[in-house]
Amino acid sequence: MASEKPLAAVTCTAPVNIAVIKYWGKRDEELVLPINSSLSVTLHQDQLKTTTTAVISKDFTEDRIWLNGREEDVGQPRLQACLREIRCLARKRRNSRDGDPLPSSLSCKVHVASVNNFPTAAGLASSAAGYACLVAAGVGLSPVIPVLKRLMGEKHCRPGVQDQPGQHTYTLARVYGVESDLSEVARRGSGSACRSLYGGFVEWQMGEQADGKDSIARQVAPESHWPELRVLILVVSAEKKLTGSTVGMRASVETSPLLRFRAESVVPARMAEMARCIRERDFPSFAQLTMKDSNQFHATCLDTFPPISYLNAISWRIIHLVHRFNAHHGDTKVAYTFDAGPNAVIFTLDDTVAEFVAAVWHGFPPGSNGDTFLKGLQVRPAPLSAELQAALAMEPTPGGVKYIIVTQVGPGPQILDDPCAHLLGPDGLPKPAA
Ligand code: DP6
Repeated sequence: MASEKPLAAVTCTAPVNIAVIKYWGKRDEELVLPINSSLSVTLHQDQLKTTTTAVISKDFTEDRIWLNGREEDVGQPRLQACLREIRCLARKRRNSRDGDPLPSSLSCKVHVASVNNFPTAAGLASSAAGYACLVAAGVGLSPVIPVLKRLMGEKHCRPGVQDQPGQHTYTLARVYGVESDLSEVARRGSGSACRSLYGGFVEWQMGEQADGKDSIARQVAPESHWPELRVLILVVSAEKKLTGSTVGMRASVETSPLLRFRAESVVPARMAEMARCIRERDFPSFAQLTMKDSNQFHATCLDTFPPISYLNAISWRIIHLVHRFNAHHGDTKVAYTFDAGPNAVIFTLDDTVAEFVAAVWHGFPPGSNGDTFLKGLQVRPAPLSAELQAALAMEPTPGGVKYIIVTQVGPGPQILDDPCAHLLGPDGLPKPAA
């Protein structure tokens, strides 16, 4: 039991992001520098988020971390690198400011608790949200937090209060005035985490410098930019993936000539084209490029030796369903993308969601879970026309898709100002689950 009150406690939430131009491969494993730039869409935290509380106290004798209620080894190298960088940043900020109100905090140990409201390690970029949240909470412990809160506006600091779209998506990094520093810290935990520091549409510029100072994430457009855009996550498997991203991309860098070609000759033009599609809200081009880039990423996995395969038979059936749906309409109305796992992430516009959900329902009828098949944003039920059903030409695979999460583009990390939101009690231990 702690004898003193904690010196500081901060709770933050951070979003999941889904890349439409994929990051795959590092040129520097230690600094986590990529071989190509990437671009992602930040998903709304109403449906998918990580919540993290970080607490410092003079009483703590060691750093400790709990993930989804279970204590984890704090000695994991990525976690250690991230904590080290957070402390480094705090020290740097203290040196550049007078009168640090919490000078002793820098030598204190930290307790961290983090929970996801979605399956961990199922290819849903949980590590990105997790490390972005750790960075947000970790830097939030530093003395600049009152400044941050004032600039974000009180309402943004309270849980459950909707912000004005686009108003504060980049606040965390901008307020600190250390965009590159925050990218660096998040990246050390997991490369894609630096993209979860922002809402809306985000690019991670690979940079050229050996020290990685120019390898930073930046917002391309805020979450309010494309309000009709919808994102559907088709959860095929909630099991832990066989080959993690870090191990997989290392093998691809070592053995895949296709990956080198992709990084050097394909991605630069695609980054520019994707930014244009987003700027002009050109859905068909956005959708086609998203699918092509996902396919090329998975092709580099197959080109890796021994080969890596993240897609399963259900993933492939979803791919066929999307192409047949689009062919039936004579227009690209839906796109798929897959990360390092079999779950499909679908992009479409709000006027197509109901019909596409009807198509998925037909292809993968739910068993007893019909009531819980659709999660997230409301979808008004739509019948499947006989013509579309014929065009899909699919024998139904019952239970192939476990459930669908319907979401949209969302904001970046949030600070929760309510002590009730803390996942750790005043003793620095996880509060019992309510
Ligand atoms: C397929 O960011 O998880 O999701 O940097 O090794 O932690 P590490 O990898 P990670 O890789 C993400 C790969 C991807 C594509 C993407 O999100 O860009």
